[in-house]
Amino acid sequence: MASAVPSANGSTAQNPLTRLTLPELRQRTSVKWRRYAPDVLPLWVAEMDVPLAPPVADALRSAIDLGDTGYAHGTAYAEALGDFAAQRWGWNDFRVDHTTVVPDVMMGIVEVLRLVTDPGDAVVVCSPVYPPFYAFVSHAGRQVIEAPLGPDQRMDLAALDEAFRRAREYGRRPAFLMCNPHNPTGIVHRRNELEAIAELACRHGLRVISDEIHAPLALPGAHFTPYLTVAGAENAFALTSASKAWNLAGLKAALAVAGPQAAADLNRMPEEVGHGPSHLGIIAHTAAFRAGGPWLDLLLDGLDTNRTLLETLLAKHLPSVRYHRPEGTYLAWLDCTALGIDTGRSDGEPGVVSDVAGPAKMFLDRARVALSSGHVFGTGGVGFVRLNFATSPAILTDAVTRMGHAVEVHHASTG
Ligand SMILES: Cc1ncc(COP(=O)(O)O)c(C=O)c1O
Repeated sequence: MASAVPSANGSTAQNPLTRLTLPELRQRTSVKWRRYAPDVLPLWVAEMDVPLAPPVADALRSAIDLGDTGYAHGTAYAEALGDFAAQRWGWNDFRVDHTTVVPDVMMGIVEVLRLVTDPGDAVVVCSPVYPPFYAFVSHAGRQVIEAPLGPDQRMDLAALDEAFRRAREYGRRPAFLMCNPHNPTGIVHRRNELEAIAELACRHGLRVISDEIHAPLALPGAHFTPYLTVAGAENAFALTSASKAWNLAGLKAALAVAGPQAAADLNRMPEEVGHGPSHLGIIAHTAAFRAGGPWLDLLLDGLDTNRTLLETLLAKHLPSVRYHRPEGTYLAWLDCTALGIDTGRSDGEPGVVSDVAGPAKMFLDRARVALSSGHVFGTGGVGFVRLNFATSPAILTDAVTRMGHAVEVHHASTG
């Protein structure tokens, strides 16, 4: 049943997470719904179980009706992001002329790395972190150095200081690839933390690249701070898109944004990189930032409800699993180490998104619930699973109930 909340003008606006039924979702052909057998509830890859936001669907429909499917032109996407960033985050000196379109956030990160680092140089990441940070950085011929998060899941300045020092030993032009908000923990970095990062990066001579794809998904109680608004971040870059917050991963188009002292570097971005995003992608992402705010607010309310529901469900069905409420994103990072599941392996290679081991394998086999396996997120990930709660409360409830039963059956069968 769809839940409805009255809006200011009296109409009823619906939680986007309750709009689609399971049979409808199973008709989707994206990887979330097709990688596993039809009896599996997929709560793994970062796709949401929502219909398109109406302004995005309308913009795409008009383009299709007009046959407006040629090559992209202009700066409407960056202008829409700039207005959204000013309104939501107070980013008032956002410069459209310091941006460039890139095919997607990960390709944008790789292209920025090519501008400011050399092959063999080190790229520091805070583990556990989004697995493609390992895969794409290594594929681009750079060396990943880990600075593990602290026990409170926040960035650890002492670990970063040490990693930045080591990074300088690899080559002339190291970088720090930051995830803000952080995937998989859902931490939204605070301004004072970001200022400390800027000071440290400046002291060690590292360029900072901030992945801000989850920025619009700061949940109630948290405030997102764009890295480029922080003192000391003038020579840094941010990469972002509407992809996560409006579920547009299939409509490729992202933006690279340079701080004032990085604009000259961004100008060196080869023209052909800007040919990667599709015109329809740019139309969709522009509409999301320009007119998708009210829909996003309904989504954030729904996600807030789900993060509380998840807490209740875990307490009931999986009381030994530890969960820090995420401050942003729709990802929950669940510490399953106390379940004592013999994973049969404690290492595993970070970066391979589809690799499933440990507790995630047990939940897949016994609960028929697909989660992301913690070990692919790097050091600190073994024994964890990442659960995507951008789904209906009904599916979330079914999944966690099944996971609870699975643990009972698992323990009964292994004595
Ligand atoms: C932190 C982070 N960066 C990048 C991406 C992927 O973005 P894109 O598809 O635009 O490369 C994701 C997807 O989940 C993500 O979580």
